[in-house]
Amino acid sequence: MLERASATLGDAGNVVEANRQVREMRARDLSEVLQIEQDSTAHPWTEALFVSCLEGDYLNRVLLENGQIIAFLVASVAVGECTILNICCAPSARRKGAASKLLRQVFKESIRLNAECAFLEVRRSNLGAIALYAGMGFEQVGVRKNYYPAVDGREDALVYRLDLTEKPEFSSV
Ligand SMILES: CC(C)(COP(=O)(O)OP(=O)(O)OC[C@H]1O[C@@H](n2cnc3c(N)ncnc32)[C@H](O)[C@@H]1OP(=O)(O)O)[C@@H](O)C(=O)NCCC(=O)NCCS
Repeated sequence: MLERASATLGDAGNVVEANRQVREMRARDLSEVLQIEQDSTAHPWTEALFVSCLEGDYLNRVLLENGQIIAFLVASVAVGECTILNICCAPSARRKGAASKLLRQVFKESIRLNAECAFLEVRRSNLGAIALYAGMGFEQVGVRKNYYPAVDGREDALVYRLDLTEKPEFSSV
């Protein structure tokens, strides 16, 4: 409630909220974004993959706190669906609502782009991320067996879906 009350629109239409701001990811953000990615996963995206997302038709967003990037999200929106491709929060900034805030912001933008649902895939072992998604209302709709490389072989991806038409609160974040 406090978050919403203090939100204002910045000059570039970015969402500014107290000391936090969501804005477009830029090429010059990549070193910070890569650092967060590499600190967070044993199978990080490459710089080339981030560059291709920046050059493509994706929602690339960063969350800054006091001017420093603490989290990022990459998504695509097409044929009425928002697909979350990557979301990550710096280890030192976790459990303070950063990923939730980025998701809410991207859902709001996706609804404006006529998305009716959101999809994502998550490692079966990633219980923290699964708790995050379940808490936002995502429901598991499938499994991709042995989808991800893992330290000791392969790991299943769980496929999650969120009906954005049942989430009017995201339209007004
Ligand atoms: C998963 C991740 C993005 C969550 O980011 P975050 O900013 O810490 O998440 P939030 O603070 O918005 O969490 C919101 C809620 O989700 C749940 N949650 C998030 N992380 C959790 C964890 N590690 N364990 C249990 N619940 C968790 C909690 O309910 C939390 O609310 P609470 O802190 O009030 O209990 C972050 O841990 C991360 O970057 N992990 C590494 C990369 C990754 O796994 N990305 C997802 C790939 S599918």
